[in-house]
Amino acid sequence: MVTDSLGKVRRLGKRLERGGEGEIFALQDRQDVIVKWYYPEVLKKRGDELHRKVEAMRELRDAQMTRDVCWPLIRVFDDQHRWIGFAMYRAQGVKMGFLAHALLYQRYFPGLDRSRVVGYLIRFIEIVQQLHRAGVCIGDYNLNNVFCMPSTQQVTLIDCDSYQLRVGGTFYPCPVGSPDMTPKEHQGVAFRNIVRTSQSEAFSLAIVLFKCLMLGRHPYDIVGGDDPVRNLRRGNFAYGEGGRDVPEGAWYDLWRELPEGIRDMFVTTFTSGANVPRHRATLPQWHAALTEYRQQLESGECSRRLIGPGSSKKSQVLHAR
Ligand SMILES: Nc1ncnc2c1ncn2[C@@H]1O[C@H](COP(=O)(O)OP(=O)(O)O)[C@@H](O)[C@H]1O
Ligand SMILES: [Mg+2]
Repeated sequence: MVTDSLGKVRRLGKRLERGGEGEIFALQDRQDVIVKWYYPEVLKKRGDELHRKVEAMRELRDAQMTRDVCWPLIRVFDDQHRWIGFAMYRAQGVKMGFLAHALLYQRYFPGLDRSRVVGYLIRFIEIVQQLHRAGVCIGDYNLNNVFCMPSTQQVTLIDCDSYQLRVGGTFYPCPVGSPDMTPKEHQGVAFRNIVRTSQSEAFSLAIVLFKCLMLGRHPYDIVGGDDPVRNLRRGNFAYGEGGRDVPEGAWYDLWRELPEGIRDMFVTTFTSGANVPRHRATLPQWHAALTEYRQQLESGECSRRLIGPGSSKKSQVLHAR
């Protein structure tokens, strides 16, 4: 049992998920709303800081944020009137991690083709641009925090309480992240001490785009047997100039089927852009390039088929041009 900001008692339904910082509960009388209840140890350690940040977020909210992004909407208190978290809309759809997956995408996104993948990515970029206009950075890019509706082009973001924001002169950092999604200039610094910029966001976003278009491959995996983070720091992008280390077969085909302009943007972003942030393709550039690509896919100028290493030989033969 919890109470909301108006003092109304709400009955929690079953626990849906356990996250790193708290648990997600259904509400008994509202299907479309869920509650994030921070773990007691998290509340004890940084409950005040979290509470202030979530309040600042609530101040910033606008109509669009509440739907495209599962923004904190309502404060929630326990039976002793202590703040324990917030309520938000429940995202619909399937995690983008299942779309960017050579074997799973067919099960979770039946009939998925390039045109739909590009549609989700365009929508994702638009939502991030909308956040940037409000002074918010995602910071911790993670494909599991992006929900895509298999039947439509709808995209919804979750886990917003980690976003970086500025409200009323106060800076709230994004205290989490993962090294393989973090640009070089922010490597080796505690996440909570990083100030994310449009250029650092553009780098992490490009990794998301690459993973989706390449069915799960990381731009910096496998080169010369080094791990992705080491390659990232060196700008060691296998698909770059000369394509020295591009994996053969289905992966290579996936890469070659991308329009040259998009391949060039990846090469620049992941090679010289790894070291020089201003060399990275920007969000408006990605948006324009993907919009053009979608038109080419729809007009038949580019092939919509998605053939990853998970596709059977037989279907590859059947779809061959
Ligand atoms: N608004 C939401 N809609 C649907 N599922 C959600 C939502 N928020 C969280 N979840 C689910 O709960 C999990 C944990 O939530 P999250 O906010 O990411 O927790 P943490 O940041 O503590 O790890 C998510 O991975 C997701 O599966
Ligand atoms: Mg989180």
